[in-house]
Amino acid sequence: MLIDMKPADVEKNLRTGKISIAVVGAGRIGLPTAVLFASAGAKVTACDINEEVVSCINQCQNYVDEPGLEEIFEKVVRSGHLKATTDTTETLQTSDVAILSVPTPVSSEKVPVYDFIFSAAEAVGKGLRKGSMVIVESTIAPGTLENEILPILERASGLKAGRDFLAASCPERADPGSIIKKFRDIPRIIGGVNKQSAEIAKALYSTIADKILVVSSPKTANAVKLTENIFRDVNIALMNELAILFERLGIDAIEVIETAASKWNFVPHYPGAGVGGPCLPANAYYIIGEGTKVGYVPYLVRMSREINDRMPIEMIRLTTEALNEAGKCLKGSHVVILGITYKPGVRDIQTTPALPIVTELRGRGAKITICDPVMAGTTFSGHLVKERVEDSVEGADCIVVVTAQNEFKRLDLKQVAKLTANPLIIVDGRGLFRTVEKPDNTIYLGIGHSSE
Ligand SMILES: NC(=O)c1ccc[n+]([C@@H]2O[C@H](COP(=O)([O-])OP(=O)(O)OC[C@H]3O[C@@H](n4cnc5c(N)ncnc54)[C@H](O)[C@@H]3O)[C@@H](O)[C@H]2O)c1
Repeated sequence: MLIDMKPADVEKNLRTGKISIAVVGAGRIGLPTAVLFASAGAKVTACDINEEVVSCINQCQNYVDEPGLEEIFEKVVRSGHLKATTDTTETLQTSDVAILSVPTPVSSEKVPVYDFIFSAAEAVGKGLRKGSMVIVESTIAPGTLENEILPILERASGLKAGRDFLAASCPERADPGSIIKKFRDIPRIIGGVNKQSAEIAKALYSTIADKILVVSSPKTANAVKLTENIFRDVNIALMNELAILFERLGIDAIEVIETAASKWNFVPHYPGAGVGGPCLPANAYYIIGEGTKVGYVPYLVRMSREINDRMPIEMIRLTTEALNEAGKCLKGSHVVILGITYKPGVRDIQTTPALPIVTELRGRGAKITICDPVMAGTTFSGHLVKERVEDSVEGADCIVVVTAQNEFKRLDLKQVAKLTANPLIIVDGRGLFRTVEKPDNTIYLGIGHSSE
């Protein structure tokens, strides 16, 4: 039994295939985790309610677009170290560890949705063996493991956390686009329900990560995860707010930030077209929700979210102003959106600011073309996504940069201007063309940019 092993033996046993791990939820985060534990030597079963995901794994077809994953994925599936099933409960009957990596999104009312993790915990609990361990990697509010997930596990299993089974939080801090490359280097944060849980979890993760930081409790571990993302969200909001103000004062915010970065304690963050992705737009609401429960609303956190959510509207304002400067109006203009992914180079459009931008522009009568080499050939908000800028901008009235894809950085704006309507109009939500040479009569507006 895992609970009877010494930490040093846990590590050795994992490497020699004597520890079996069930990774529940084999998505963007769960699959790389499953693959890396399998590669370290564990016998891993990915448990997912999506049959397609399960059959992809069992047929050795990688479905998560993450550099470096495919090669290790194929190796561990072929060697028999990784297999998949839809039956979590049955898998748990022969597993030493369950790692929960299911989605924990926020609803349209901005309330954390725990349905997936609660039903995963129920399925895990029903099969949980005495002496095994449950680890939650999903992002959850501090206290959710202790107050909500453990009671589900205990009721479904008839076992007691800390005494009959071990439990810990190890929130995922992966960097999409570099998950595999950075996996070993990003320190893991572990909070156990007791000392033994923390020590055993540390031993397990030390087979796939170089640095493990053990904190005093699961809720502290979850607070660390949320704090680092909220820190980013709030600082981006501050820069967005200053960028809007500085534009009115005729000051270039990006020049200000780059210069302020010369001070030892200034951490540069940049304004932009909006904040997207699975983490930042959601994470603040886990803390806001907990704060509301205990009678303290974290106003700065809430306001920062509102500021960042408002940035697409700033993009619409700039687009309207830029077109007006050329004597055109938004209605009837051909607007080309450059970039729709929430992050450059990552094939993921979750909560991308491109969606409210496209929806609003179209609602105001603009004709939309979308170009994004990372998402080429897909359909976004009813538009076929084109790969090449040259094939997208023919006769365009305005180019709106939402995501700074690498391919856009290489653009020759003089050549682009030959294809668009005259003058070339660019609204830059990422400061992408700020310092690039432009044709003489270009109208260039951007978040954080001032032409004065
Ligand atoms: N994607 C990221 O960049 C990222 C980064 C850090 C943390 N996280 C967190 O990691 C967690 C997982 O996120 P993700 O991006 O991998 O999600 P995902 O949507 O890519 O994958 C989740 C998988 O879980 C499966 N699933 C849902 N309910 C299930 C259940 N009851 N039992 C078994 N499988 C189930 C789904 O079918 C899906 O395959 C979330 O809490 C997220 O906030 C994500």
